[in-house]
Amino acid sequence: MEKRIAVCPGSFDPITLGHVDIIRRAANLFDQVIVAVAQDARKSHMLSIDERVELAEAACAGIVNVIVEPFEGLLVEYCVRRRAVAIVKGIRNLSDIPDEAQMQAVNADLAPGVETLFLIASPQWAHISSSMVRWLNELDADVSRYVPEAVAHWLRGNG
Ligand code: PNS
Repeated sequence: MEKRIAVCPGSFDPITLGHVDIIRRAANLFDQVIVAVAQDARKSHMLSIDERVELAEAACAGIVNVIVEPFEGLLVEYCVRRRAVAIVKGIRNLSDIPDEAQMQAVNADLAPGVETLFLIASPQWAHISSSMVRWLNELDADVSRYVPEAVAHWLRGNG
């Protein structure tokens, strides 16, 4: 039988423990999970695409059925190319829903064969985002409780 593949997309600038929680839970539901790191040249990032991929790889190294890849362009086209049947995303709070619902609807129009699934963030990570980590880090706060060890290490070396 064909492997059931899901894609967890994001900017991962940087990957947080909230992302890892969603990825781990998706990995329990699917045969393979691809963490798809968006290149998106329109956005400015703290980390380069190579750094975002490398840190996501380090963070997911212990989850056997997860791989990490960069992607460019339309997410659903990438999903179809990789034969993924689902996009899995985390929802932290009600404010996440309008944008996510809009993206879900557009992606469903463009590729009806790719289902979007939302997992509610585990309570301990519901207040954590990459932008909050970047902000705290700029202010020299310790973010090590919110990010994988490899990210904390990178931030210490590049702060
Ligand atoms: O971590 P982010 O920045 O919230 O992730 C956003 C992401 C990468 C999932 C979103 O920007 C995306 O899907 N980009 C790919 C471009 C695309 O397909 N756009 C149309 C979506 S409706």
